[in-house]
Amino acid sequence: MSADNDSREQWGTRLGFILAAIGSAVGLGNIWRFPYMTAESGGASFVIVYLFLLFLIGIPVMIAEFVIGRNAKLSPVKALSSSGVADWKPIGILFVFTGFLILSYYSVVAGWTLQYMVDSAGGVVTNYSPDVYFAAISQGQRSVFFHLFFMLITAGIVLSGVKRGIEKSVKFLIPTLVFLLMGLAVWAYFRPGAAAGYEFYLSPRTDLLFSENYNFLDINLLANAAGQTFFTLSLGMGAMITYSSYLSSNDDLVEETLIISLSNVSIAFLAGLIVFPIISAYNIFPLEAGQLPESTVSTLFQAIPQAFKSIGGFWGSFFSFVFFGCLFLAALTSAISLLEVVTSSLIDEFNLSRKLSVTISSVSIFLLGVPAALNTGWLGMADKIANNILLLSGGFFITIYAGWVMKEAAVELKKGLSIPVAQLWLGLIRYFIPIIMLSVLLLSFWEFSYEMLQEALPANA
Ligand code: PHE
Repeated sequence: MSADNDSREQWGTRLGFILAAIGSAVGLGNIWRFPYMTAESGGASFVIVYLFLLFLIGIPVMIAEFVIGRNAKLSPVKALSSSGVADWKPIGILFVFTGFLILSYYSVVAGWTLQYMVDSAGGVVTNYSPDVYFAAISQGQRSVFFHLFFMLITAGIVLSGVKRGIEKSVKFLIPTLVFLLMGLAVWAYFRPGAAAGYEFYLSPRTDLLFSENYNFLDINLLANAAGQTFFTLSLGMGAMITYSSYLSSNDDLVEETLIISLSNVSIAFLAGLIVFPIISAYNIFPLEAGQLPESTVSTLFQAIPQAFKSIGGFWGSFFSFVFFGCLFLAALTSAISLLEVVTSSLIDEFNLSRKLSVTISSVSIFLLGVPAALNTGWLGMADKIANNILLLSGGFFITIYAGWVMKEAAVELKKGLSIPVAQLWLGLIRYFIPIIMLSVLLLSFWEFSYEMLQEALPANA
């Protein structure tokens, strides 16, 4: 199936592939979306369900994407139709559509990070109340403009191809990101009043686990936690299929999955070591176990700048610049992978040149994102549909494909494998994971339609 593929580009090094996949996983999901989902869905009980799903479902599904991608050496649409068993092409198209939708609003949020950077450098961010500033920049012309600007940067990198564009840029961007985040964490540690933040973040409140504040059976919580698992690991829409399709050697896919997912969790954890001490040191809102602040897509962007405003002057602007610079770098390496899914599919499907397909994809993604740049309500809605419905459906189909349709899945995984877990993996993705995924997906649909019904019904009938 990969016979005509001799000219396909490949990663230059194993490290390049690993860094690109880490770059895809680590993004706004870790720093912007995770805290807002946690607060929306009930705090620690959400975190527990999320971590559980991350290891039990996230890791096997990531292995499945790698197995599919490396085996087919094709972009998702072609990879799924290469099995010859059934026509899986519509699922590949679903992946491309999901990538389209996610990048359209992801780029808007990334555009906000750019605005915060530019305006921190100009000393503007710390001069205004964060609410006023956010309201001014998040919806409207300027938001559209920076969304466009961010898409241009992303397109520029993807245009240069896998080795020269993606691999080269992540080798510089990821170490820079980690270095800056560590610097911020050390700085946060020395803020007076930081201790309460660590306490909230790090002490396991097992006494509260089964109290009424912790409701594990909440459908919204379950759907959000599953959606976040897929989002943060970039699963369910073919990003990891695409990246692994550029693998040549017989790498150990399980080892790579572990490195990538553990790095993703560690960087998310590191972000918490910045955000929580800052929140307590600058009294941004009270951090009490079981009590969560109201949270929406704007929370991070309104809360954290309050600290920088309190510091004020040069240093306030400096730390604001570095913080949003980190968010921007993290967003960029994820956006690259989203755009690569769409681009590589157009290349494989229609035999287009990379240049033409990057242009077509970026322009259409930009246009699709305009409503999100004009209205944060729309942005939140698109985010919910993409995560709780599209990524979960995509993840379900990936397990079915790798577990049942693809004949040689376990054989493919065994190549280069150092620990004999191929049969265990196959068992998980054949039986256990699809059942859980299907249940969560149905509940998520139900929850979603119920929400829409509530909105449509007159209040208090
Ligand atoms: N994983 C990225 C993040 O956490 C988002 C993403 C989702 C990237 C799906 C690619 C595919 O920000």
